[in-house]
Amino acid sequence: MYTKPQLFGTLGEMRGLWFFLILFAANAYARDVRLFERKQPLGPSEPIQDYQREIRLVEPGDAFVFSDGTRIQIIRPISRTEGRRDFIFEGVDKKGRRGALRIPADDTRRYTVDDTVKGAPLLKKNGVPFVPIVNKGLPGEFTMTQLLSEGSIIFSDFAEGKYLIPATQKREMIEALKEFGKKVALLTLVKDMHQEQLSYDPERKQWVLHDWADAVEKVSVQGPNRNDLAMKYVVGKYVQTSLTSTEVKPAAPQYQWIADAYQEIVDESYRIREAKDSRLKFEPYKMPACLWEFQKLN
Ligand SMILES: Nc1ncnc2c1ncn2[C@@H]1O[C@H](COP(=O)(O)OP(=O)(O)O)[C@@H](O)[C@H]1O
Ligand SMILES: [Mg+2]
Repeated sequence: MYTKPQLFGTLGEMRGLWFFLILFAANAYARDVRLFERKQPLGPSEPIQDYQREIRLVEPGDAFVFSDGTRIQIIRPISRTEGRRDFIFEGVDKKGRRGALRIPADDTRRYTVDDTVKGAPLLKKNGVPFVPIVNKGLPGEFTMTQLLSEGSIIFSDFAEGKYLIPATQKREMIEALKEFGKKVALLTLVKDMHQEQLSYDPERKQWVLHDWADAVEKVSVQGPNRNDLAMKYVVGKYVQTSLTSTEVKPAAPQYQWIADAYQEIVDESYRIREAKDSRLKFEPYKMPACLWEFQKLN
């Protein structure tokens, strides 16, 4: 098994120590910000009046307090973009669990965090790689997912060439994308899946969903229609497909590599579907990968 060289371990620990010292120093001015309250002990929890404003003002070292008294200390803001589903902060809870704290971005659409909690077991059951939940949180108030590693890249940024990535790493990422695609090849729908919900995590060496909703649906074996593949929601902007052919074409020349990767995923999904449908000829010697899938599905 690969173990990290000692030097890195020590440096890593020192970095951790500095981080806590800085957080501690900042704490002299730290505030507790209550986001949700219960007017009556058993009544519903309600967002505070200045919900959005308070969230905009919090700084590292401050903490959010939820209606049951749970306190999550803020390490740094990750996403405070208005109009998105959730605001996201790196946070740490009382048990020392660090994670991506998600709170509703719109206090009238508080179900977004509940959807994240509801969706997680469905993704797991269907084999979709995602960042697991580290603290389930409170309905309508918050939840916490495992952090993506530093240097993670969102699919749309990767596809659009936002970063200069060495060729060998790019190849690894494309291979990993195919792996991800093959895992979801038999799903029609992963609700809210699109180009900005999927990140390549360099430590996991995997593409993982970091955002999702509450539904997952499998394709039916009837009517092979690859337009219904969940993966299409991720690559759809960059490729052209039609109902009458299985061929995938790039939307522009620079997306040829996405079309090639997606073509493999489509072919794989077809092989799996053919294996599932007894009306089609089953040729196991031609499809070892799908034989395994076939056994898993039945
Ligand atoms: N678990 C996580 N760890 C680190 N960053 C995350 C995590 N989840 C989301 N992010 C970042 O937060 C931003 C918004 O993410 P997303 O999960 O799509 O939320 P939303 O769509 O609600 O804004 C993205 O930049 C993403 O990289
Ligand atoms: Mg999102």
